[in-house]
Amino acid sequence: MEIIRSFLRMQEKTASIKNAGQTIGFVPTMGALHLGHLALLEQSKTENDFSVVSIFVNPTQFNNPEDLINYPRTIDSDLEKLETAGCDFVFLPSVDEMYPTEVVSEKWNFGFLEMVMEGKNRPGHFQGVATVVKRLFEAVPSHKAYFGMKDYQQLLIIKEMVKQLGLDIKIVPVSIVREADGLAMSSRNLRLSAKNRQIAPHIYQTIKQVVTLAKQLSVEELKQFVNEQINQKPPMVLEYFELADGADLQPVTNIVDHQSVMAFIVVDLGGVRLIDNISIF
Ligand code: PAJ
Repeated sequence: MEIIRSFLRMQEKTASIKNAGQTIGFVPTMGALHLGHLALLEQSKTENDFSVVSIFVNPTQFNNPEDLINYPRTIDSDLEKLETAGCDFVFLPSVDEMYPTEVVSEKWNFGFLEMVMEGKNRPGHFQGVATVVKRLFEAVPSHKAYFGMKDYQQLLIIKEMVKQLGLDIKIVPVSIVREADGLAMSSRNLRLSAKNRQIAPHIYQTIKQVVTLAKQLSVEELKQFVNEQINQKPPMVLEYFELADGADLQPVTNIVDHQSVMAFIVVDLGGVRLIDNISIF
């Protein structure tokens, strides 16, 4: 496994692989790697000759400065995990390599996709994500790039960005990897107290119940159900629960009007923001 810190060196490496007629899969991450990230790498390995994982904690996508400070950084164990998993290249750029002039986001217009849920509740977040992923795609102009369905809205934003820029990169969605008790794997789980870690699986249990209840309850009743389920388990506080169309995130008022419906949830658990989603159909 080769560790590359320079933007130009990464570009050269990618170009030489492509020139030799071989394929590259790319997995962008912010580190604190867990089996969710490694599932993306696994899929990349099965579909490409070489796989690149980037680790870069991107300052412009944190709308809350404390979140950026508290973001877990576990580079030594990350590199060990990637080596064991058979990663070919790790791209580890500095802030200066990624933002040579100013640490700010470019201006993007993602329309409605950015007006709901994470876009609405974390102003500027997706502007930062799109800015950094565009730059990462310049460093690693791969054939395919892998994104987790856990951040479903991010996945749609990246697809839209690739479309707007006319990039020749296939965006591949990867299913959510969960702990044995159902909690969606997340770097943020490391910040849960032992007590809160025990109740955290209640989030997935609740949205799993929504899938069943959606056959008999209205959207309003489902929202009421989730509200009660989450808020009855302090210190859990529901930030939002939404039912939205899986293609464009338009809100769902009547489930039968849509071809694909997803349920999205964010819960605050002792200051840790946990995100999850599930397909209703
Ligand atoms: P990060 O949170 O590190 O996630 C990197 C990738 O791993 C994302 O595509 C995310 O959806 C995926 N992922 C995380 N947990 C997962 C799980 N439990 N199951 C499946 N996939 C999972 O998302 C980011 O970083 C950043 O926004 C980034 C795209 C790197 C831009 O900075």
